[in-house]
Amino acid sequence: MIKLLISENEPGQAEEIANKLDDMKEVEVVGYARDGLEVAQMMAQLSPDVALVHAELPGISGLDACQMAAIASPETACVILTDNSEEDNKALRQAMQAGARAVLPMTTSAETLENTVREIAKLKECKNRPEYELITDPAKMPVTIAVTGAKGGIGKTTVATNLAVCLQQQFAGEVVLVDFIGQYGDVALMLDLPQNGGLTELAAHEELELDLVESYLETHSCGLKVLSAPQQDENGNTNRITTAYLAELLGVLRRGYRFIVFDIPPLIEPLSSYVLSRANLVIVVTYLLDLAAIRGTAALLDSLIDKKLPSERIKLVVNRTASRNPFSIADVRQATKWMPSAQIPEDVPTVAGAVNEGIPVVLGAPNSRIAQSISKLTKEIIAELPGQTGAHNR
Ligand SMILES: Nc1ncnc2c1ncn2[C@@H]1O[C@H](COP(=O)(O)OP(=O)(O)OP(=O)(O)O)[C@@H](O)[C@H]1O
Ligand SMILES: [Mg+2]
Repeated sequence: MIKLLISENEPGQAEEIANKLDDMKEVEVVGYARDGLEVAQMMAQLSPDVALVHAELPGISGLDACQMAAIASPETACVILTDNSEEDNKALRQAMQAGARAVLPMTTSAETLENTVREIAKLKECKNRPEYELITDPAKMPVTIAVTGAKGGIGKTTVATNLAVCLQQQFAGEVVLVDFIGQYGDVALMLDLPQNGGLTELAAHEELELDLVESYLETHSCGLKVLSAPQQDENGNTNRITTAYLAELLGVLRRGYRFIVFDIPPLIEPLSSYVLSRANLVIVVTYLLDLAAIRGTAALLDSLIDKKLPSERIKLVVNRTASRNPFSIADVRQATKWMPSAQIPEDVPTVAGAVNEGIPVVLGAPNSRIAQSISKLTKEIIAELPGQTGAHNR
């Protein structure tokens, strides 16, 4: 049923309007308001689905009533009725400012009035769209995580892949890992998946739809979805990938997946900047093997802050911790002025074995210290998401 409220500028008008809608069996008139204050009161008290409000009512104007009701009863959609029969831009502008959904002349036909009431009442059906839950339930909000690092070979892909697998274990079917160029080891290799240049081939399409994007995703045996790295030309460029394409891709993936994990080096401008700026969480991976990496990490963290990324959206993860390594956590803290959120131990045999077999450590060696450290990091990330207990909003 459509709950309808009708107002009138002159005695008798409300009944006239009601008569026009007589054929609409789905309409229930919940009230007749005879002045501006009354229509505003009735909207606030009765929360009708649709209110037909004359622009000039006795007392306060219909526009003022509509404006207040837009705040007091946001559930109600107002249609402003005017005495003008011509299109009147000023009236339209005023009605829009007051929050009305439509403007109709009083002389409008019964058919147009019926259609307008029906269409406007239908707007509420957007609550049935799958996206409605995504925007209203914090526990369903899509989360984009960018895993990056100042240097090649620092452990970005190791962290991104294992993190994505851990997320997949908890959020089955809701995780996609996007590979963005690596030198030493890429995502497909670490997961033993075919390397098909998914990102490049997908970029050839003018419009991206979720179904189309999904047809380019590889599925790992654990259920994780993977979009393969773009193919590079002989100069290492990924020509077809533009920021506009990336923006569209991210928009589509956010509709279909809860977690989108990017494995992305920071230096492929402007693409990296775009991904990092849109990420809910940027994981900066560093390691303890050389001073250049630690200094580069400090510079990368500074540049993220300079780009206005809030510090609570950044996590520093120190990879390859081992007492024999030349640098320590204290050196990282001193150089970066950041407190690491996680430490991942160095474990060459386990990591090398995982790469050779194409089985990430969290699956192939779940009891190893390295796997445990990534599981712990994943738990922390999940605990801090909006909608979780102890969460802070990002
Ligand atoms: N904690 C660790 N212990 C031992 N070896 C590690 C560890 N983390 C990474 N490695 C090794 O270091 C190498 C580089 O790691 P990875 O490919 O994850 O780095 P990356 O930052 O993604 O590199 P690229 O810049 O090429 O993308 C790999 O051979 C990997 O096996
Ligand atoms: Mg890599």
